[in-house]
Amino acid sequence: MARRPMMAANWKMNKTVTEAQNYTAALLPRAADAEGVDVAVFVPFTCLHEVGRMAEDSPVIAGAQNFYYEDSGAYTGEVSVPMLKDVLARAVLVGHSERREIFGETDTLVARKTKRAVEADLLPVVCVGETKEERDSGGMWEKVSGQVSRVLEELDEVGGDGIVFAYEPIWAIGTGDTATPDDAQDAIGRIRELLREERGEDFADGVRILYGGSVKPANVAEIMGQNDVDGALVGGASLEVDSFVELIEAAR
Ligand code: G3P
Repeated sequence: MARRPMMAANWKMNKTVTEAQNYTAALLPRAADAEGVDVAVFVPFTCLHEVGRMAEDSPVIAGAQNFYYEDSGAYTGEVSVPMLKDVLARAVLVGHSERREIFGETDTLVARKTKRAVEADLLPVVCVGETKEERDSGGMWEKVSGQVSRVLEELDEVGGDGIVFAYEPIWAIGTGDTATPDDAQDAIGRIRELLREERGEDFADGVRILYGGSVKPANVAEIMGQNDVDGALVGGASLEVDSFVELIEAAR
């Protein structure tokens, strides 16, 4: 099955509202030419209303980097799905390794957030990946399969186009130590097989699985050329719009 590729920027904790406006104004006309590729930008909450407004009638998907699965209440500092929809977010990152490793998000919390996003038709991009210690000790698949399976356990019926996974080996994030295309294909191919076993052929064939971890214009084509890789989730190389557009072009 041909899956529509996705090129996604994760700005992380970067950009003021003015910087976000300038970036988005430069991106929109160039992303409009990227037919056949879904372009997403995951931005800080403070920029989301402006980016969501600017991107509302464009092919660019504005997304948040986090949220909480309750819709309101005594959860100081948190942001809910209704609030994200109110500022025109159409997608959300769930379980990024920095949320898991720095802020202690558990597989169960990630699963509950994913369920809530699917229910609200807010496209979840669920991040999974292993540490260097886990890879070096042969524990990559135990870690990653556990993360994926915990999400699937929580989900009711969902179509393959209703969720995206991103395999982001933690040792490759922000390090310049990009996984080899074979590493990326191996992990993503195994994730797809797990989806097939647990949710059937149609679901597994429809779900997009991205690679993230030091993706750059110099290495994106080889990674995108892998059979099961449907796109990339990019941090550092997405912060400059020209670099991000190069990555989008490579995904076409
Ligand atoms: O979510 C994408 C991010 O974790 C990858 O970061 O800077 O290695 O592209 P970077």
